[in-house]
Amino acid sequence: MPGLNAVAGLFALAGLTLFSLAGDEDETARVERATAIGDPAVGAELIDRAGCGSCHMIPGIDRAEVLVGPPLIHWSRRRYIAGLLRNTPSNMITWLMAPQEVVPGNAMPDLGLTEEQARDITAYLYTLE
Ligand code: HEC
Repeated sequence: MPGLNAVAGLFALAGLTLFSLAGDEDETARVERATAIGDPAVGAELIDRAGCGSCHMIPGIDRAEVLVGPPLIHWSRRRYIAGLLRNTPSNMITWLMAPQEVVPGNAMPDLGLTEEQARDITAYLYTLE
């Protein structure tokens, strides 16, 4: 029954189109949310300069492929920071400014980031699907 196959094909095509449109909307919403926190482009630059990549695997950052700390993949979907703090923008800023206060003795050093720098870095990480 070629007629039915054609109809099924059309439905499949419509489904795929809807699926990819939904994907784009998700991405737009994610980037908008991230941009409300800070400047993701500045954040990426800071991540590069601060040497986060010497310990973390971070998508989109050159040479950030090291596994001393956890890989920072899918960061916008992660629930906890260091298995302890809920992953919210303000908790992320707290963590980035003072990881040694949050988890004394862990292997991530305090890097002397300002609140604004921590904010921009958080914005970049929140763009990561
Ligand atoms: C010397 C190594 C080192 C450097 C440099 C470093 N980190 Fe970390 N980072 C770690 C370790 C180890 C942990 C795990 C800490 C824990 O769970 O107690 C961690 C945890 C994290 C977490 C939480 C990860 C998770 O899965 O919960 C984030 C986010 C993070 N680091 C971001 C950064 C950023 C951004 C930079 C640069 C500004 C950076 N780190 C620099 C070692 C490092």
